[in-house]
Amino acid sequence: MGSLEAERTTVGWAARDPSGILSPYTFTLRNTGPDDVYIKVHYCGVCHTDVHQVKNDLGMSNYPMVPGHEVVGEVLEVGSDVTRFTVGEIVGAGLLVGCCKKCTACQSDIEQYCKKKIWNYNDVYVDGKPTQGGFAETIIVEQKFVVKIPEGIAPEQVAPLLCAAVTVYSPLSHFGLKESGLRGGILGLGGVGHMGVIIAKAMGHHVTVISSSDRKKEEAIEDLGADAYLVSSDTTSMQEAADSLDYIIDTVPVGHPLEPYLSLLKLDGKLILMGVINTPLQFITPMVMLGRRSITGSFIGSIKETEEMLEFWKEKGLTSMIEIVNMDYINKAFERLEKNDVRYRFVVDVKGSKLIDQ
Ligand SMILES: NC(=O)c1ccc[n+]([C@@H]2O[C@H](COP(=O)([O-])OP(=O)(O)OC[C@H]3O[C@@H](n4cnc5c(N)ncnc54)[C@H](OP(=O)(O)O)[C@@H]3O)[C@@H](O)[C@H]2O)c1
Ligand SMILES: [Zn+2]
Ligand SMILES: [Zn+2]
Repeated sequence: MGSLEAERTTVGWAARDPSGILSPYTFTLRNTGPDDVYIKVHYCGVCHTDVHQVKNDLGMSNYPMVPGHEVVGEVLEVGSDVTRFTVGEIVGAGLLVGCCKKCTACQSDIEQYCKKKIWNYNDVYVDGKPTQGGFAETIIVEQKFVVKIPEGIAPEQVAPLLCAAVTVYSPLSHFGLKESGLRGGILGLGGVGHMGVIIAKAMGHHVTVISSSDRKKEEAIEDLGADAYLVSSDTTSMQEAADSLDYIIDTVPVGHPLEPYLSLLKLDGKLILMGVINTPLQFITPMVMLGRRSITGSFIGSIKETEEMLEFWKEKGLTSMIEIVNMDYINKAFERLEKNDVRYRFVVDVKGSKLIDQ
């Protein structure tokens, strides 16, 4: 272990080009400062955003790129001004590693909407160096962006909470959709979607999964506790469910028509878009006007919301459905994620994986 001032070398798995194939990559971590926490990564979840990023779906990718933004690890060292964390503690880190701290969003504790936010990978840090993500042996994160993990939640379970779960929790909280008795829809039962079912159920909602097939029906009802399951191509059932939902969390990661889902919403219902989609989505205006419905979007969650969600998760004793894999499975995991073949989140056991191929 080097001194806090020295540049460190670490190894991660990086994509080199838009093929998105990851392979071992040795790189230096920026110098750590007084506010920084040096973390040994134990687990890192695999989000569909990682696939969008490594494949340059949004045309903004820089390589080499080490993805991964659902990081759980052990504190190896802390800077002199770090008060909230101690060596040996298990902590979490997510998608953000920087923000301006001065704008309205930052001052309101919703730093995910800061125009100067810094992503934990595929971005440039304040020192001018590229940021790299959680599929790596170690990371360095300013303490503001590190979260404490409540006791009693297994670290591998925590990983997908740091993006997928807070991404659902944040809009439900912000839009006043936490009260029990609401009727919610979860469109797309993947990593984010399955967190949506778990969290909305724990809030006491009546939850309908809206899926592209009936393949996940039994699990959705039996294991995740969903109350109803709609297959989006089943027009009769979709029509029967018209005007029945207070909100829909739409996690579909590709272009899709919005009208079939808007029609499921009650008066004042909200369609909350989550998917990163680089093509225009379409709807006709009466679909929103005649029910005063809203189409909105939401981006991850703040550190404050993450801490709140972790407490909620612990208090309710929730468990997600994950598949733990080793780092050398990552390319297969990305491929399976793209093919809609995961129940419901891959989590890479980074600590237990061999990262270097000499
Ligand atoms: N807004 C944010 O802050 C935020 C945070 C995290 C992720 N995201 C984005 O949210 C999206 C979902 O992420 P994820 O990690 O949950 O992905 P995921 O695990 O791949 O889940 C997406 C789900 O959407 C459905 N789906 C997939 N392909 C489809 C297709 N061609 N047509 C219709 N439905 C399809 C599938 O559910 P069914 O089998 O049930 O149809 C699939 O399980 C991604 O675009 C990701 O980048 C956004
Ligand atoms: Zn994510
Ligand atoms: Zn700001």
